[in-house]
Amino acid sequence: MIRADHIHKSFNGLHVLKGVSMEVGKGEVVSIAGASGAGKTTLLQIIGTLEQADSGSVHIGDTEVSALGGRQLAGFRNRHIGFVFQFHHLLPEFTAIENVCMPLFIGGMGKQDAEKKAAGLLDYLGLRDRSDHKPSQLSGGEQQRVAVARALATDPAVVLADEPSGNLDSANAHELHSLFFRLRDDFNQTFVIVTHNDDLAGMADRRMLMKDGAIGVHP
Ligand SMILES: Nc1ncnc2c1ncn2[C@@H]1O[C@H](COP(=O)(O)OP(=O)(O)O)[C@@H](O)[C@H]1O
Ligand SMILES: [Mg+2]
Repeated sequence: MIRADHIHKSFNGLHVLKGVSMEVGKGEVVSIAGASGAGKTTLLQIIGTLEQADSGSVHIGDTEVSALGGRQLAGFRNRHIGFVFQFHHLLPEFTAIENVCMPLFIGGMGKQDAEKKAAGLLDYLGLRDRSDHKPSQLSGGEQQRVAVARALATDPAVVLADEPSGNLDSANAHELHSLFFRLRDDFNQTFVIVTHNDDLAGMADRRMLMKDGAIGVHP
């Protein structure tokens, strides 16, 4: 589902990714660990097309996303890639359901269809009675689950998560982690998750470690 080949990336002469290659199969949950500054976020952003590699290629499904640009790239990202970050990045002025609808509106879906899809997701995530709450009226765990619903709204091919439980207490973190695996079991959802959390990494199908600009199997 994801294939990265020989990715190189430097920032101002700092060689962060030194030929990273990795593959993730459909329905697989892969965790990536590594010291701060190792390049985990950079790799995730390159896979997610938010950042461009200096060289190398990224395929998502049959599409070489590293060869897309402009509107095509933005459209592909909107439809096929879901992101969950450490901080929820929900829009504070909008309710939970409006936040979940946002990627669907951007993709051109009408209001009724978008709300139906968003309501179904919020229901699945146990947030039915939180639909009309704004982010500030939700707990940290609920905010992060709304962010997951938003990431899933377009039925993306892959969900990329960057330290998604980094801001949660252990009970809420565990609930979020369980949710990822439920989504994998129920919908064959593919995940790449950057995490320092041993609970989450321990549940993953495959653990990877970033070190010295390269990626390997976690020892
Ligand atoms: N946009 C950027 N401009 C300059 N340096 C960056 C940028 N993004 C990341 N870096 C540098 O690249 C290295 C890897 O960063 P990052 O991918 O965020 O690591 P990690 O997520 O593993 O902590 C760090 O030294 C960081 O300072
Ligand atoms: Mg990071």
